[in-house]
Amino acid sequence: MPINIQSLFTEHEGNRYDLHTHYLNEQMVRVLKTIGYNVRFTKASGQYLHDHSGAKYLDLLSGWGVFAIGRNHPAIKDALHQVLDAELPNLVQMDVSPLAGLLAKRLLRYAPYMEKVFFANSGTETVEAAIKFARAATGRSAIAYCGHAFHGLSYGALSLNGDTIFRQGFEGFLNDCRQVQFNDLPALEAALKSRDVAAFFVEPIQGKGVNISDDTYLQEVQALCRKYGTLFVADEIQTGMGRTGRFFAVEHWNVEPDILLIAKALSGGHIPVGAVLTRKWIFDKLFNRMDRAVVHGSTFAKNDMAMAAGLATLAVFEEENIVRNAAIMGARLMEKLSALKQRYELIKEVRGKGLMIGVEFGAPTSLKLKMAWSALEAANAGLFCQMITIPLFKEHKILAQVAGHGSYTIKLLPPLIITEDDCNWIAGAFEATIAEAHNLGAVWSLGKTLAGHALQARKTG
Ligand SMILES: Cc1ncc(COP(=O)(O)O)c(C=O)c1O
Repeated sequence: MPINIQSLFTEHEGNRYDLHTHYLNEQMVRVLKTIGYNVRFTKASGQYLHDHSGAKYLDLLSGWGVFAIGRNHPAIKDALHQVLDAELPNLVQMDVSPLAGLLAKRLLRYAPYMEKVFFANSGTETVEAAIKFARAATGRSAIAYCGHAFHGLSYGALSLNGDTIFRQGFEGFLNDCRQVQFNDLPALEAALKSRDVAAFFVEPIQGKGVNISDDTYLQEVQALCRKYGTLFVADEIQTGMGRTGRFFAVEHWNVEPDILLIAKALSGGHIPVGAVLTRKWIFDKLFNRMDRAVVHGSTFAKNDMAMAAGLATLAVFEEENIVRNAAIMGARLMEKLSALKQRYELIKEVRGKGLMIGVEFGAPTSLKLKMAWSALEAANAGLFCQMITIPLFKEHKILAQVAGHGSYTIKLLPPLIITEDDCNWIAGAFEATIAEAHNLGAVWSLGKTLAGHALQARKTG
């Protein structure tokens, strides 16, 4: 009897939290229940999610950025069905896939200064590959990276992670990884000067915190890297593929890195994938002899499902003008959210490019708000954003996230297909929630409850 996935889902979806508590990550279930996100999503389409009661939500996480073209896009579903129906000779290993060749060729159109592509199965795998490419190409071993950087959680990528929360307890990282602060050029030059650094990894806009490169930063980074013989690696796993209103975010700064990393949105969200775009001389230093033809790789990389999904995704990008929509809707949203900043002192800054936007909150100046803010900070620093994201979710059906542990910035990372109406939905929801915070409404008692939970968790943890 063939397995019936739909009925398995329907039968067990009400039981999902128990299943995860017993067999998977219990802490995740506790988080969801504590903040009231245990609404049991049962359906998804485009930029919207539906919970078991039928309520519709606007998704500003897009699966951490993978659903740039929206969930369950018919073109991706169709491409995947076609791969299965065609009974293609997938993953022969002692052959090469035409679909992978085509996807590489089409991807390189977006970065004509690049010549080669290496496919992987995730973002972090592209980072691991880039470390190896850089070491092989330069004969050096040190790597430079930024404070607050996030490049993934496997060991090479974790060695380049700029936040203690991810590193603590996992020590024993790659040797000689040098952290410099983002946007700090003198520190970068000091790190590169000894001419032993293989590569500098940087996100054009940091995912943790939505920190944006200063106007001339990446140009100077490129110049310093060239001067000291270090490869310039742009991690565009989050910022790439239209997210910032250009296909690659580096285009905003007119730079041409030596290595570009993408993943997330490349397969339309359905199949894990990642891609390293680089120059031929770098590629050829690693794959330099026949007996080293498989010196780096991964069993599932270049699989036909991922490649077909990638080809279909790029076709959707062109047909639906995805990058242009991200630029236009991003500008509209920034305008609407920036207008709120004029009216609400709790908003410190609204920043972003395209549809990667951060709304940063900060200590208010008026006496009544100052007292409430200080009390919450004293109970649990960095909790404020949850007082905004929880009502956004519960009352306004907006799914959004805080841009990192203890961050004061809420990150908006919606599918790139959002509409003017969606922008109004977002702005209206932010306004209502922030206005309530300004009027010392219910969000502050929510804050107290959350602080209590946090205290309890620290005690029991
Ligand atoms: C900039 C950046 N690099 C790397 C990664 C890691 O990608 P993955 O989770 O697919 O391993 C992420 C994931 O969020 C990311 O945002």
